[in-house]
Amino acid sequence: MSEARTPFAVPEHAPQMEESSRRDFLDAIALASLGIAMVGGAQVLVGYLSPNVLFEPPSRFRAGSPDLYPMNSVTYIPEQQVYIVRSQQGLWALSAICTHLGCITQWKQDGGMIACPCHGSKFRKDGVKIEGPAPRPLPRLSLTLTADGELLVDKSETVPEGSLLRV
Ligand code: FES
Repeated sequence: MSEARTPFAVPEHAPQMEESSRRDFLDAIALASLGIAMVGGAQVLVGYLSPNVLFEPPSRFRAGSPDLYPMNSVTYIPEQQVYIVRSQQGLWALSAICTHLGCITQWKQDGGMIACPCHGSKFRKDGVKIEGPAPRPLPRLSLTLTADGELLVDKSETVPEGSLLRV
């Protein structure tokens, strides 16, 4: 008796191929899952081993030549939050950060004073408090000259009130 071959007849080896392709598919899924797990684990490990630090701008910066600052002027350097003040006696640098709660103060040319917009503290241009809740004067910062004649401010170092750079 002969079997009639139909166009839909399944060859004898077809179930093996189907079994093989299913196994390959499952292997591929297992490998992909393992790869995803390894990438996730590597990310956690890198995060754990990386130092958890906040990168801040350097505390020292060059403020240019003293000639940039006219006599009897207060110049605000916004990116550093520092005032450079020049008087007949010399130059000094003041932090613009209010000693009350840390707001950024503003030089008021009209009033000839530095004012805090938050709670109303006012300071003279030498940093001494005039009024308001600020507990201390504005810190006077280290101001020196570099070898090539530029002003160098160090925000990490405060100097006593009245310290001047004579140029
Ligand atoms: S933060 Fe300046 S007066 Fe309060």
